[in-house]
Amino acid sequence: MYGMVNEGIHTFIQANYGDGTWQSICDKAGLDRREFERMASYDDAITYSLVGAIVDQTGISQDEVLQIFGGYWIEFVNQSNFGKLMRMSGDSFVDRVNGLDDMHDRILLAMPHLKPPSFELEGVGDKTYHLHYYSDREGLSPMVIGLLYGLASDTGEKIRVTHLPATPETSDHEVFEIVMLD
Ligand code: HEM
Repeated sequence: MYGMVNEGIHTFIQANYGDGTWQSICDKAGLDRREFERMASYDDAITYSLVGAIVDQTGISQDEVLQIFGGYWIEFVNQSNFGKLMRMSGDSFVDRVNGLDDMHDRILLAMPHLKPPSFELEGVGDKTYHLHYYSDREGLSPMVIGLLYGLASDTGEKIRVTHLPATPETSDHEVFEIVMLD
């Protein structure tokens, strides 16, 4: 993944736990570096080992670490050069979710090695949606949940997200139920 993701993790840990904790997380992850270039592409294994080391260091479960990071990512990108891109997709949660693929496509212009996920929002009833999430990567569903709550908080809306169990029809992707709350 692009170094921006690892730097997001770095910034989060440093702000919440301090520099010493970040150093020991990098040691536990077996890394010989403490910083990443945001616009350079790194092996996904580095990001996964950082997550594993955070679990080890803090005792927080992997799902929770990923969900917390998903929520933080929205704050992090808002403060970056890409914040405008996210806000450009629209003012509402639904507009922004519908704009996710176009947004990652625009990011691809700046990050040509990006392997973005893909999303499809399907209305299934009053204020209820199914969000289909396609990715080449494993295990990131809890991060998607955090990202969605973060996105809703950014647009000032309230949602409830549930990860739906896999069915034969959805075996190649993950599905989340999103309910818009008042
Ligand atoms: C301007 C805002 C954003 C930027 C700059 C951004 C950028 C990125 C980058 C750099 C990656 C790593 C992929 C790679 O390097 O190959 C990524 C992955 C990802 N992004 Fe975004 N992103 C943004 C907003 C969002 C939002 C709002 C969502 C909401 C669902 C989202 C969902 C994801 C997911 C789930 C991944 C993990 C990769 C995967 O599933 O395969 N992103 N994004």
